[in-house]
Amino acid sequence: ENIPLELHKVRIVQKLNLVPVERRMEALYEGGFNTFKLSTRDVFLDMLTDSGTNAMSDNQVSAMLRADDAYAGSQSFERLQKAVEDVLDKKYLLPVHQGRAAENILSEAYVQKGSIIPMNYHFTTAMAHITLRGGQIAELLYDEAYVINSDHPFKGNMNLEKLEEVIQSYGPENVPFIRMEASTNLIGGQPFSMQNLRDVRAIADKYGLLLVLDASLMGENAYLIIQREEEFKNSDMATVVKLMTGLSDICYFSARKLSCSRGGGICTNNTDVYKKLQVFVPLYEGFLTYGGMSIREVEAMAVGLYEVWDETIVSQSPIFIKYLVDSLDAKGVPMVKPAGVLGAHVDAMQICSHIPQNQYPAGALAAAFFLISGVRGMERGTLSNQRDENGVEPLANMELLRLAVPRRVFTLSQLKYVEDRMAWLYQNRHLIGGLRFIEEPPVLRFFMGKLEPT
Ligand code: F0G
Repeated sequence: ENIPLELHKVRIVQKLNLVPVERRMEALYEGGFNTFKLSTRDVFLDMLTDSGTNAMSDNQVSAMLRADDAYAGSQSFERLQKAVEDVLDKKYLLPVHQGRAAENILSEAYVQKGSIIPMNYHFTTAMAHITLRGGQIAELLYDEAYVINSDHPFKGNMNLEKLEEVIQSYGPENVPFIRMEASTNLIGGQPFSMQNLRDVRAIADKYGLLLVLDASLMGENAYLIIQREEEFKNSDMATVVKLMTGLSDICYFSARKLSCSRGGGICTNNTDVYKKLQVFVPLYEGFLTYGGMSIREVEAMAVGLYEVWDETIVSQSPIFIKYLVDSLDAKGVPMVKPAGVLGAHVDAMQICSHIPQNQYPAGALAAAFFLISGVRGMERGTLSNQRDENGVEPLANMELLRLAVPRRVFTLSQLKYVEDRMAWLYQNRHLIGGLRFIEEPPVLRFFMGKLEPT
């Protein structure tokens, strides 16, 4: 049997609660059937996200103790700069408090009314910052990206023909940058290939455009390139990561994922880009040597970046995810395949085919799964979409329940519990009903919105 093996041991633990189903039902009503609004007091396994919920290494925790607290000129920041130079091969680093702060700054600097930003696929916060400035996005995946039951190794690839079409029809002057998201989050944590990134680079060069890499999930994308792309099967993580960042002009990341700490950064080798973006850091984030992060986070981030070089560390979460996806698939549960990164993605469109998309099948599945298991996942479907400028709610291409597998946090027996409960819910899927909003916030509504059963 293909049993994943942990190459780490657990030395600090947190006790979990498994509260009775009656309490879980109350918690759902209190939280408006929105898993973001549950307290971890009521949650058994928190599979909401892999963001800031990863286990830290002994080396990260010990580095945090030597933090050189200084408003300006902290030596901790110098260590982080060195890590960015060594691992990401970029000489300039702008620190920010988390990934979306990088998106805010990039959008502030480059996006205006009439701008169009081609990308393989949107991420919620990236899109919100672009549209807030009057820009639009163009999502340019190949059709295969939307096939749930697939064996395509690189569903995150940018559609090159469509990319050229968009640049030509809107005019390169209206394309401030092209955005490539490593391990495309919202279609199930699906990677792009190095060849695809090279091809996008060539198109960027042809039209004189900047290429921005969202590197939040880059470690896992690099690992899957080594696993799935013939040319790189004997390469190491350090080489693949440098090739990826080397193809981009600007690379930004949420360190809550990339280095398993907190915070984020924007990095580049381009002096003009650096100067243009630099002014926004003290304005929105904090001084240039901490960018809204605590210095302890800065230390943990530096150590965490070096850990991206270690394939045994980066591969743990994707290997566990593959185990969960393959075992649920074997039990007939419709899963996004092949297994990607960040989490296992369950296809709510199929499981809840009796629930219309405007009653949020993925949100309904998330609530039902919490009720019957105490496991909290995240809706990634229509509920996570934003209304367009006319107030119309676009139906999502995919209705997914994401069960995140934070790095080195859960044990295999806990994943087996998830497998058992999800298989049960699948058998009893007719019990799941739809949801409707009772309070719908105007921006990023999925975070704080309240719903009720229809
Ligand atoms: N880009 C990607 C690909 C992400 O997955 C995220 C966050 C961000 C940017 C924003 O970073 O949260 O540090 O501000 N994803 C989290 C998730 C929230 O749950 O998937 P942030």
